[in-house]
Amino acid sequence: MPTLSKLYSMQEASEHNTKDDCWVVIDGKVYDVTTYLDEHPGGDDVVLAATGKDATEEFEDAGHSKSAKELMETFCIVVSVSVVLGFLYLRKK
Ligand code: HEM
Repeated sequence: MPTLSKLYSMQEASEHNTKDDCWVVIDGKVYDVTTYLDEHPGGDDVVLAATGKDATEEFEDAGHSKSAKELMETFCIVVSVSVVLGFLYLRKK
């Protein structure tokens, strides 16, 4: 199934590579982790180093827990877009 994250090219995602604006691409999905950088138990440097490329391998290699993976989904840009669209749809009804 096509997902909205496909609308972002790796080029575009890689432009968000600073502490104030940080996206990572994991398993074909785009995550905006800007607000999480300071809290990340592995440090912000590893996440910043994982921008601008497919970070799936690095993410898996770090041995993230189930709860880390659940937390990660809350930063998924597609999810955010879906929530906003759902909200607008319900308001219009
Ligand atoms: C995308 C969102 C991410 C979330 C929500 C996240 C969350 C977490 C959490 C909760 C931990 C603590 C251990 C655990 O519960 O598994 C952790 C550890 C770690 N993370 Fe992430 N992480 C993310 C992305 C990344 C990325 C892209 C890298 C790239 C290398 C990375 C590297 C690490 C490393 C190396 C540790 C181990 C720290 C240690 O035990 O010393 N993480 N992460």
